[in-house]
Amino acid sequence: MGISRRDALKTGAFAAAAVGTPLGRALAGGPATMNRIASSGLPTPFSVPFVQPPVAVPVRTDATTDYYRVRMNQQLATILPGLKTPVFAYNGTVPGPTFRVRRGRRVVGRFVNQLPSVHPTLKYTPWTSVHLHGAASLPQYDGYANDISLPGQYKDYVYENRQTARSIWYHDHGFHHTAENVYSGLLGSYHIIDPAENALGLPQGEFDVQLTIGDAMFNKDGSLLFTLDDHKGMWGDVILVNGRPWPVMKVKRRKYRFRLLTATVSRSFEYFLDTGDPFTVVSTDGGLVPTPITTTSLRHASAERTDIVIDFARFSPGQRVVLRNRSPKNNRDFDDTDRVMAFDVVDEAFDPSNNGPVPTRLAPSSPTMALQPSQAVTTRRFELGRRRGQWMINRRTWEDVIQSDFELVEATPRNGDVEIWELENKGGGWFHPMHIHLVDFRILSRDGKEPYPYEMGPKDVVYVAENEVIRVIMRFEGAGKYMFHCHNVIHEDHDMMVQFRVVNPAGEPDPFSVPAITLPERTSL
Ligand code: C2O
Ligand code: CU
Ligand code: CU
Repeated sequence: MGISRRDALKTGAFAAAAVGTPLGRALAGGPATMNRIASSGLPTPFSVPFVQPPVAVPVRTDATTDYYRVRMNQQLATILPGLKTPVFAYNGTVPGPTFRVRRGRRVVGRFVNQLPSVHPTLKYTPWTSVHLHGAASLPQYDGYANDISLPGQYKDYVYENRQTARSIWYHDHGFHHTAENVYSGLLGSYHIIDPAENALGLPQGEFDVQLTIGDAMFNKDGSLLFTLDDHKGMWGDVILVNGRPWPVMKVKRRKYRFRLLTATVSRSFEYFLDTGDPFTVVSTDGGLVPTPITTTSLRHASAERTDIVIDFARFSPGQRVVLRNRSPKNNRDFDDTDRVMAFDVVDEAFDPSNNGPVPTRLAPSSPTMALQPSQAVTTRRFELGRRRGQWMINRRTWEDVIQSDFELVEATPRNGDVEIWELENKGGGWFHPMHIHLVDFRILSRDGKEPYPYEMGPKDVVYVAENEVIRVIMRFEGAGKYMFHCHNVIHEDHDMMVQFRVVNPAGEPDPFSVPAITLPERTSL
């Protein structure tokens, strides 16, 4: 492999591309949008059939471990009818294949970067780093932003899957290009399944459905149009569910579990059903909520996950129920961004199993939700802000971390410590979905008030709205350095990301270290 990942940073040409020069990173607003497809040229909402990504298949399994190989390629996808869109795919699909993994079984994933040496329209080098968002991975498997694989390189990632059942996701995290890489298609979902959760009788099989929601904008030639908008974000005029524009799904008259993942670059949503009917929240970022929550709307920003149960039994055959969006402030809206997808209720026979009432207790003993402020040994405050066009956390950026040779840290919790973090957004003109790696946290308060009922479950991303202070509590268990950042990935790239270090006398793995476990030999790339 020639040069190591860490040293790659310091070599001439590469360093020049990596640091500064926002010019080289993306198209600016204005003229760049001249080739945008007019609204009249976009598909009519609910004319494209709903699909789900394929399920990932291991290349090999043994007594403890499932081995996967995931190639990242550029290819042409049909997103808008009649047009070809160059995308970056994991194993040929956007979103990538869904991992369905049993709790306690190890996964080794070889992620191979076979992307072109420059992005077809944005002209940067698509280096990659794969992050399994929602997993407590060791630092060297956590997709550390600078632990990159260049086109032609690969890295093996080890995921222990010891955590409770949850709907998580994997996506690219390559420094300064996370937004472009994810927007181009490098994301997929990952479900940790466990028998205890299955025993609750929530909908399963064909009634357990992934909804990965994104947005995009297209040039007339079908290519993705990407804008930075003064580093505020990227708001598409097309809403995508599992990579399809405003799809329509046939549903039977029973309960479904939908694993809702908001996987946008910047857009946030307030989801609701056009009939006004309630739905039931059963799980948040870090797994089951203690008790199910009934709500008629749900606000979500990038990277948040909420699993909901919708019961279509109350609707009549032939009825169309639309999942809509009441756009939260500081998003950019277009003609049809108030709609997400449609459910067409059909009168077909269905398997009646796992269709009973949602149990009134789902995870009554969640350790995260049991955390109390009195357990905290430290309270830290983080100020979210902006200076000279760069987003910052406590006036620091990821560039500062790079300049420090990855030594600079904003917090040093000890292994086992419980801490309270206060996230303060003084800015009235923007919201920040803040994500803390490694941990599940409980939201203690939202601007001094109770959190919303539907966020009273274990979380790893919190919507920090305009002028709010959010308090979260968590226990740090692990060792070494982890990232903490805004999940508006344009903010993250420019440059709203810092790190903390979990201090552990037993030793702290280096995020750049090379995996000890790899795919069995003779498994070809
Ligand atoms: Cu989903 Cu640090 O990312
Ligand atoms: Cu993460
Ligand atoms: Cu932000």
